Amino acid sequence: RAEPLVLGIETSCDETGVGIVRGRTLLTNTVATSMDEHVRFGGVVPEVASRAHVQAIGPMIEKALADAGVALDDLDALAVTAGPGLSGALMVGAAAAKGLAASTGLPLYGINHLAAHVAVDLVAPDSPGLHTPTIALLVSGGHTEILRIGDIVDDIELLGATIDDAAGEAFDKTARLLGLDYPGGPSISRAAAGLLDGSGVPGDPAAVRFPRGLSTKTDLRDPERRFSFSFSGLKTAALRTVTAAEAAVSAQPTDAPGAGEPSPGAPRLADIAASFEEAVVDVLVKKTLLACEDTGIRHVLLGGGVAANARLRARLAERCEAAGVTLRVPPLDLCTDNGAMVAALGAEIAARGRAASGLGFGVLSSLE
Ligand code: KG4
Ligand code: ZN
Repeated sequence: RAEPLVLGIETSCDETGVGIVRGRTLLTNTVATSMDEHVRFGGVVPEVASRAHVQAIGPMIEKALADAGVALDDLDALAVTAGPGLSGALMVGAAAAKGLAASTGLPLYGINHLAAHVAVDLVAPDSPGLHTPTIALLVSGGHTEILRIGDIVDDIELLGATIDDAAGEAFDKTARLLGLDYPGGPSISRAAAGLLDGSGVPGDPAAVRFPRGLSTKTDLRDPERRFSFSFSGLKTAALRTVTAAEAAVSAQPTDAPGAGEPSPGAPRLADIAASFEEAVVDVLVKKTLLACEDTGIRHVLLGGGVAANARLRARLAERCEAAGVTLRVPPLDLCTDNGAMVAALGAEIAARGRAASGLGFGVLSSLE
């Protein structure tokens, strides 16, 4: 089997990633992120991300080559994320990759970002290999999808995606409403564990009944909605709960004993955070297992930055085990956006002797 030496470039969101693999061996995975520049906006600002990619891409390519001890001449192929993602951000990576391809004569492969999130497991140090067919649950700040992967190169089907916010985006926006730091995922998890109010008492995930988007019986019967997600209602509900809790505090006379303390009936921050987390995790887990049921597939792979969520991993593991389904979560630094995932899929395509994409391909912001 050929073991092509491939450099992969990823710029679909706020990470500038460059990775190099030899076949299924990961040589280096260098990632720069512009996350700090987005903090004060509470989310990724496309224009800011593009500008950061322009600055980072050259140095990151040089760093990756140096780290791997590889010269451009040694490479067998180049790969770059062609979409989905932010158009302006994608264009920076594509332009850099095309420039490299033109100057070196190396074949260049345009890569589907979602497939790359799955393919990355091929180069994980503890990789069991890819069990296909598999259901993939991809959850990050930029996307939320359930995919059926029959073959990592030739048979990828999008079963459903979010119709509004991504799961990570819901965490980020709700954290902001709760006055918590960006990125919101880790903040909400810490709040849910009772670590942010000084109590150390974990919140009750059943304290507030937040909506489970697109999960009614009617939704689940509708093929258009069965595997779709909606998190925007959850955000609105969280806002309503926070406002009500604040009103309960301020309604108390300021000279009364316990003034400034939440009233007994009002949910604590930990309760709101735990309940919110539970609502997101519930739908993600439920629909992933439904996809297994519908397709008869016995393997699940979890990817994207939200894979860092401990509650999601625990609940998914529990439900998979009960259903006799294996669950694979690549190491977390390979779950978040990176260049190694692009190189991994590029190497797989090159190893199969497929024709390169040429220099004329465009970037695709949307999924289809
Ligand atoms: O894949 P990723 O690093 O980058 C992009 O989406 O670009 O994912 C980042 C997202 C953020 O929305 C962040 O809030 C979320 O993943 N995230 C989490 C956790 N850690 C990161 N969400 C929930 N729980 C976490 N522990
Ligand atoms: Zn991603």
